[in-house]
Amino acid sequence: MSADMTPADKAKYVSARRAADLVENGMRVGLGTGSTAAFLVRRLGEMVRDEGLKIRGVPTSTRTADLARAEGIEVITLEQAGWLDLTIDGADEFDNDLNLIKGGGGALLQEKIVAMASDRMIVIADAGKHVETLGAFPLPVEIIPFGWQATRKLIEELLISMDVQGHDTALRMASESPFVTDEGNYILDLDLKRIGDAQQLAQALNQIPGVVENGLFIDICDTVVIGYDDGRLELR
Ligand code: 5RP
Repeated sequence: MSADMTPADKAKYVSARRAADLVENGMRVGLGTGSTAAFLVRRLGEMVRDEGLKIRGVPTSTRTADLARAEGIEVITLEQAGWLDLTIDGADEFDNDLNLIKGGGGALLQEKIVAMASDRMIVIADAGKHVETLGAFPLPVEIIPFGWQATRKLIEELLISMDVQGHDTALRMASESPFVTDEGNYILDLDLKRIGDAQQLAQALNQIPGVVENGLFIDICDTVVIGYDDGRLELR
């Protein structure tokens, strides 16, 4: 751990290292995206190089694929893997039922496909990601670029019909242009403050033509490894 890490980074680091201990020889491992997942990939790289760990990794973004290769981890596609033993990924929020908001890094589609194709999903997170009710973090929704304004209108109408108060929907930007995901789509960030019925919202969003996937991960995560900035760990 480097001395100039922020408290949040220290918490992410300890969480990622603890989760890396759960990876065993021969496993096909889904590799998440984001700063916490990057700590994990670097640790797995060390284990591959220094301890002879043999794994095959399925990355959830080009960013993670590049990092995993640079770390010496064998990278395969989900098609090649067929199924995964374990996926380890970060999250933007988790609640007491281990439901999540993901997609802050824009990789929610591949992240959800990979997590769903795994025997087990472990989330690594600093304690600040824990919430009583999901929704303080804006909910990312991946949408097709074609007619994206119409899709946004339909999403806004849905939110009104579900009585979600004070919502705001913003097209995610990267400098002057829309942010484009690895799958060539856009992201709408829904600032909802509080999501009353996450399951209902997740299902309703995915019914809208133009919506590819949303960042609510309901009943997908099995375990959260929570890191604290003083080095403590908690498994839920
Ligand atoms: C990327 C994600 C990330 O897991 C999430 O944004 C958490 O990122 P970080 O570990 O940097 O806090 O869902 O799409």
